[in-house]
Amino acid sequence: MSTLHPDLARVIISEEEIQERVKELAAQIEEDYADVERIMLIGILKGAFIFLADLARALNINHTVDFMAVSSYGKSGAVSGAVRLVLDVREPVVNEHIIIVEDIVDSGNTLSYLYHTLKGRQPASLKTCALLEKTRDSLEVSIDYLGFNIPDVWVVGYGLDYADTHRTLPFVAELKPEVYQ
Ligand code: PRP
Repeated sequence: MSTLHPDLARVIISEEEIQERVKELAAQIEEDYADVERIMLIGILKGAFIFLADLARALNINHTVDFMAVSSYGKSGAVSGAVRLVLDVREPVVNEHIIIVEDIVDSGNTLSYLYHTLKGRQPASLKTCALLEKTRDSLEVSIDYLGFNIPDVWVVGYGLDYADTHRTLPFVAELKPEVYQ
């Protein structure tokens, strides 16, 4: 195995574990939507682009792919929870079976904002999928398809970044605290 980048403390989820779980999630989605004409996967940029690409390619049912992007203010600051839409889907979502695809759910603010925004547009159904969730007591919007629960540490790789670096690592790793403190 190649040496870990010096910014990284340890691998939390290996490439093999991720790929295995992505296949399981795709199989679960196929089963749940077996009677539906098609589904629409909405990936949340930037972090979800790698997970979405693998999940979509593992899905053997009719699906379309679209994207949204949001900007969060005050993640650890004063106006915690404020989320703003910076990129919207290209196609209308009305009467579509939507699955929101996220890389990680932390406070849940982003997912909550997206869920309520899309719910207001009359989709046929609306579910949520996230590769990672940081262990929380409760989320306002639940995750229907979850890859892994992870501890409350800064993670990078498989779409997740630190200052836009380490996004394309094939595994999820913990960033050393001294890198961001
Ligand atoms: C991350 C992640 C989620 C959000 C989760 O995005 O992709 O969208 O944070 O956090 P929350 O549950 O506390 O709202 P980030 O803001 O890092 O942007 P990026 O995906 O473009 O890197």
